[in-house]
Amino acid sequence: MVFYSTIKPMLTKKSKIYIAGHTGLVGSAIVRKLKKDGYTNILLKTHKELDLLSSERVKRFFAKEKPDYVIIAAARVGGIKANMTYPADFLYENLQIQNNILWSSLRNNAKKVIFLGSSCAYPRDSNQPMKEEYLLVGKPEPTNEGYAIAKISGVKLCEKIYEQYGKIFISCMPTNIYGPGDTNDPLKSHVIPALVGRMHQAKINNNKEVIVWGSGKIKREFLYVDDLADAIVWMLKKYDKKEFLNIGTGVDVTIRELALLIQKVIGFRGQIVFDTSKLDGMPRKLLDVSKINSLGWKAKTDLEDGLKSFYNWFLENLK
Ligand SMILES: NC(=O)c1ccc[n+]([C@@H]2O[C@H](COP(=O)([O-])OP(=O)(O)OC[C@H]3O[C@@H](n4cnc5c(N)ncnc54)[C@H](OP(=O)(O)O)[C@@H]3O)[C@@H](O)[C@H]2O)c1
Repeated sequence: MVFYSTIKPMLTKKSKIYIAGHTGLVGSAIVRKLKKDGYTNILLKTHKELDLLSSERVKRFFAKEKPDYVIIAAARVGGIKANMTYPADFLYENLQIQNNILWSSLRNNAKKVIFLGSSCAYPRDSNQPMKEEYLLVGKPEPTNEGYAIAKISGVKLCEKIYEQYGKIFISCMPTNIYGPGDTNDPLKSHVIPALVGRMHQAKINNNKEVIVWGSGKIKREFLYVDDLADAIVWMLKKYDKKEFLNIGTGVDVTIRELALLIQKVIGFRGQIVFDTSKLDGMPRKLLDVSKINSLGWKAKTDLEDGLKSFYNWFLENLK
């Protein structure tokens, strides 16, 4: 028989904290932040050491390690092309990874679990900016339906565990993330590393122009990855409610504004040309972050400063 403790958790610098997916963009920033803040008992396993798709291996790992706190930043993540090519894999793998970790965390009496959802889980035709209560009022974007359904299931499983077992299993919905560790992998189609890579190359080659797909008019929100890590550690310490929280800046920019900022940061002197023959995505995708702001957390890094840090990291990693 399992005893489910409902005592309010007491996070200390020695608490055992497992970060699933610590080699990824977000997971690595969470580890940096925890180490910076003096947490000393951080539990990490690479994909090779622990395949989170295997229920048996995850069960054995949790039974042995019994982490007090768990942050789920492991997932199969990708851009539109990858999502459209492998929709079954995106649905199956994400359900499997999160179900394995959530259920083993419950069975082994983890004190608190934070699951990372994604703003992609919101309905395609959602009102903007997107408030937490807009989740499930409409259908997700069809091109990433599998991923979105998995994320919604993860958020809902946390809520149901909270209701049924009284355990602090909670979720957040981050917006688009960028920063050190972000890759130019075409399968992930992250706009910032893609534009930085191309504009940097154009500067080195003395090219006269860089082409950006689409009209440049659609608007997107971008959060610096260290700010997301800060928000997650803030949730670990301060937030115990069942309701999930949006995490973003609450501010969006057009792709044209973003491209001009990147041009300034890199010092590219050529022209930016928008290829309007390429399709634009949703005109706007912005999170309403008034809830987390009112609870005391706000993003700190302004977009230009974040782009400068990312570009420095990019140059370091070219060497
Ligand atoms: N990036 C964004 O813009 C963004 C926005 C909103 C929400 N999020 C959410 O944040 C979380 C992290 O995203 P990310 O951008 O950091 O993704 P990422 O860079 O692709 O990292 C994913 C991590 O999960 C690990 N992983 C994947 N499958 C695994 C498996 N079967 N077993 C063990 N480990 C596995 C990866 O290890 P390997 O690389 O070794 O496979 C990697 O460490 C995801 O839940 C994502 O939905 C991200």
